[in-house]
Amino acid sequence: MNIEELNKIARAMVAPGRGILAMDESHPTCNKRFEKLGIPTTEPMRRAYRDMLVTSPGLSDFISGAILFDETIRQNTLGDIPFAAHLGNLGIIPGIKVDAGAKPLAGHEAEKVTHGLDGLRERCAEYYELGARFSKWRAVITIGPGLPSWACIEANAHALARYARLSQEAGLVPIVEPEVLMDGDHTIEHCYSVTELTQRIVFHQLKNQGVALEGMILKPSMVISGASANSRADAKTVAEQTVRCLLNTVPAAVPGIAFLSGGQTDQEASTHLNAMNSSVRPLPWTLTFSYGRALQQTAMQVWKGDRANVLLAQQALLWRARCNGSAALGKYSEAMESEVA
Ligand code: 13P
Repeated sequence: MNIEELNKIARAMVAPGRGILAMDESHPTCNKRFEKLGIPTTEPMRRAYRDMLVTSPGLSDFISGAILFDETIRQNTLGDIPFAAHLGNLGIIPGIKVDAGAKPLAGHEAEKVTHGLDGLRERCAEYYELGARFSKWRAVITIGPGLPSWACIEANAHALARYARLSQEAGLVPIVEPEVLMDGDHTIEHCYSVTELTQRIVFHQLKNQGVALEGMILKPSMVISGASANSRADAKTVAEQTVRCLLNTVPAAVPGIAFLSGGQTDQEASTHLNAMNSSVRPLPWTLTFSYGRALQQTAMQVWKGDRANVLLAQQALLWRARCNGSAALGKYSEAMESEVA
């Protein structure tokens, strides 16, 4: 494994004021979102949608990398250029989701473990040939009565570490994504303790499997109140608790941390990231975004599957990218939101 090369890619993925566009929804997830908006759930529609995203003028000003799904990395844009090559030409690093999804964990049916290790070495090699330079694997941890179980945290952390090591051997920078779900009415303190334990076990497993920390990116969820909690912690508390959790668990050798949005509103996702980056405390890693919904949801609603809406949808995407790019520098303000309105 070439640690120097992996580190160069990882640092480019978290370059100042830029973040990652997660556009790697699996067919079921993408189709569910299309169905809600009455968009036909077909291959040509998914291609047209993703073409709209990656041809947004100025995207590379705020986006350093884009995570693709297997279908997309094998497709051409509507302009007939392979998606990965198109992104590369723009200075956006192409990445690939390599996990096969979270499935019920045997013996712990309320929890999930992420599948996809079988054949991963060969798939990583193929994705490198197709132009990918980083990869992603998402594990989900559920908070609930008696949850998460030790079995769930350990199985997921182990799989993340096996995946990360295989990725690095293939020249792909692994995005290690242990997502603690926001679902539920738990307190932010409860979220803190589950997130801290999860990240501790993940880094223990990464060490056991010989993963080079200089050549990876962590994609965590923020430490936040449950989505249906009675009283939800404010942005300052979310930022403080998230940073405290990271300082307690993430070695300084990791070049960057790129958060998922996990069901936060567009504005919450920008406000929380900004609050972390505007703290005066110097941090050992770059904090940026790797958002899916918080970058795309408005754009998809505007697009609705109609070519006539492409320009407006692209403006919506660009707007979220600009807000989050500013938040990555601690320069976002809610006043920016009314500018666009
Ligand atoms: P969200 O930002 O919508 O949570 O998606 C990020 C992602 O990549 C999930 O795996």
